[in-house]
Amino acid sequence: MNFNSQTISIRPALKAEADILAQLTLYSGSNLMTTMFGGEKNVSRVIEKLCKSDSSVFSHRFSYVATIPQNNDAENEASQPVGIVTVHFSGQDAELEDTVSMALLDQIGAFHSLMLWPLTVMFHMCSLPIAQGESYVGVLAVHPDYRSRGIGAKLIESVEKDAYLAGDSAICLDVEIDNDRGLRFYERCGFQTVAVRHAPFFLQCRRIRGLRRMKKTLR
Ligand SMILES: CC(C)(COP(=O)(O)OP(=O)(O)OC[C@H]1O[C@@H](n2cnc3c(N)ncnc32)[C@H](O)[C@@H]1OP(=O)(O)O)[C@@H](O)C(=O)NCCC(=O)NCCS
Repeated sequence: MNFNSQTISIRPALKAEADILAQLTLYSGSNLMTTMFGGEKNVSRVIEKLCKSDSSVFSHRFSYVATIPQNNDAENEASQPVGIVTVHFSGQDAELEDTVSMALLDQIGAFHSLMLWPLTVMFHMCSLPIAQGESYVGVLAVHPDYRSRGIGAKLIESVEKDAYLAGDSAICLDVEIDNDRGLRFYERCGFQTVAVRHAPFFLQCRRIRGLRRMKKTLR
């Protein structure tokens, strides 16, 4: 793939590309999402519904995508997204609704949704609240074919500018404890670990080890 970091563009995500947003979102934590969202058969559809929704944590409204020109056509506006970042600036959490339960109910039915409930509760036990005045990055992923070319760094850079303009003083995020590459990447971008929460036993059995909260102060 022939491109340099100057040719990477960042733009707001579109509702119409929810299927691509869902694929990219899944790369940010496929085991975690597959476990929490009803297994391999259902996970893509559940995430797609959440990307389409206007008020879910994964909504297209809170997402930005990285594109690169396809077929050497630098003007091609229809370039497909190859990376995604989803960010909630301080205060935007008020716009979020519990659309996850609805999407699960719709996709996997009441019985299976209920079976997942204990896992959801356990997962919440290892997440931490977000302080006032901080932006939260919920998703960051680059398509495997396009990694190690500066796209992830560009997405984070763009979020940092927007968070600063929104008046936030820091950006925080959670990365899975065993995601060594993600950890290295965020450290290189200037994030520091502020807390580590290990998952309860039943999540550990599903290879969900826990979350590392990282933070970067904006100046
Ligand atoms: C973490 C992730 C988003 C980083 O995206 P990325 O586009 O690969 O990130 P960058 O290219 O900016 O930086 C990553 C690497 O490229 C190298 N790099 C950056 N710019 C480069 C360039 N112009 N040319 C060559 N290499 C470059 C960096 O040194 C770094 O090295 P590494 O191979 O040791 O990781 C990506 O690996 C990913 O999608 N991972 C799976 C999902 C995930 O873990 N998300 C984070 C947790 S939610």
